[in-house]
Amino acid sequence: MHTMVKHILKNKPIDTTVEINGWVRFFRNDRFIALNDGSSIHNLQLVLPDHIDRSIVQQITVGCSISATGKVTESAGKGQDVEVQVSTIQVLGLANADDFPLQPKRHSLEFLREKAALRPRTNLFGAILRVRHELAQQIHRYFSDRDFIYTHTPIITASDCEGAGEMFNITSHDSSTEDQPDFFGKEAHLTVSGQLDGEVAMMGLGKVYTFGPTFRAENSNTTRHLAEFWMVEPEIAFTKLPELMNTATDFVQTVIKHTLETRADDIEFLHQRHENEQKQKGKQGDTWLLKDKLQFVIDNDFVKISYTEAIDILRNSKHNKKGKFEYPIDQWGADLQSEHERYLVEKHFKSPVIIYNYPANIKAFYMKANNEETNSTVAAMDVLFPGIGEIIGGSEREADLNTLMAKMKTFDIPIDQMQWYLDTRRFGTVPHGGFGLGFERLVQFVTGMSNIKDVTLSPRAVKYIAY
Ligand code: 4AD
Ligand code: MG
Repeated sequence: MHTMVKHILKNKPIDTTVEINGWVRFFRNDRFIALNDGSSIHNLQLVLPDHIDRSIVQQITVGCSISATGKVTESAGKGQDVEVQVSTIQVLGLANADDFPLQPKRHSLEFLREKAALRPRTNLFGAILRVRHELAQQIHRYFSDRDFIYTHTPIITASDCEGAGEMFNITSHDSSTEDQPDFFGKEAHLTVSGQLDGEVAMMGLGKVYTFGPTFRAENSNTTRHLAEFWMVEPEIAFTKLPELMNTATDFVQTVIKHTLETRADDIEFLHQRHENEQKQKGKQGDTWLLKDKLQFVIDNDFVKISYTEAIDILRNSKHNKKGKFEYPIDQWGADLQSEHERYLVEKHFKSPVIIYNYPANIKAFYMKANNEETNSTVAAMDVLFPGIGEIIGGSEREADLNTLMAKMKTFDIPIDQMQWYLDTRRFGTVPHGGFGLGFERLVQFVTGMSNIKDVTLSPRAVKYIAY
């Protein structure tokens, strides 16, 4: 059994003989190897003795993989407490120095995107993927500790949860079998959200959550949109909007807090990278540094304002009056664009913001109507984060069968095909609600990465599929 680098650095097993495997990050003076095996942002220093065969030493280059044994000793060198005095070493996979694209220097994120399959070999993507892993673990832990049942909702579906027509179609057809009936006997799609299935499960299990891949054929080429992304969707029986907003707040705060504690080394590395990036950007750069931003989100309650209040703030802002919004805000009912969301979060409140009670006609069909006299609003909420914009979208659901059916009619939702969903309201309906967290947007926030394409192993977006 080989030992992971992380454990050697932590436990410092002086005088023990260990086997270590990994990839060479640096090699200097034909003697000192900085070895990384993915378990930590930190490398382990290996020291080669004089007796190692020259032919082996010549094979050792940045990026090659090795297996070595040796004794752990205290290190006299700077930057590490322990190192390994190598007794045997073998190169497992060569990395020709003339061809290997990742040399020990800073590569641009654009360059790395072109070499997406080699990104996990870099410190940066190691840190991002470990933080991503930790966030996922903390999410499962959060819900499981609070009696939510993890439900695997289908990925292939015949329904459009958001009713936005942004679905990828699925077919088993190829050109040679075109006149055969298609596989499912009706149109099938990749799901845009697990919510409707989540509601089905909730109506018996009480509190459930889904955490799975979702797909949107959305023609948005931005730093916040992917065509394939993961969504976390709790669905909760016997809840109302005010409680839902508090649940969403506690959920993201707790998950970020524990990730910060467990992955302190990776976050420290990402913090420094972020700080350097902002310095390079000069005046365009963010003055709010990563760890401060994360701590702020953990420590402070989010600002809660109604859509109507948000519109008032935006309409009366200097920004709006000077014509600085691409989409000027002139009346109640306008859909909020990301420029408006970011103005509220980054300029006006300098805090995460939850906007609730949106106009009914700019939100999805399943949202619960507020019976207000003047405006027609629904009990919806969006959680907006600095640098990200919308990170969570959710609502109380319309629980009354007839009200829901009437709404579906006005929204042109095919009621015949949704009888399975309406059964949840037909039999033993309960007040309920839930929300969806865009997982990659959370990873972006916690890692300080400005492009969502840099927080997945291999991003898919419009006109973009790395491999
Ligand atoms: O606001 P959305 O569309 O809400 C729903 O799908 C609801 N059915 C969720 C629910 O109530 N269960 O999406 C939820 C979140 C957004 O707030 C955003 O963070 C993320 O999913 N998201 C995307 N992330 C990356 N790329 C995209 N194209 C995204 N579209 C939405
Ligand atoms: Mg939304």
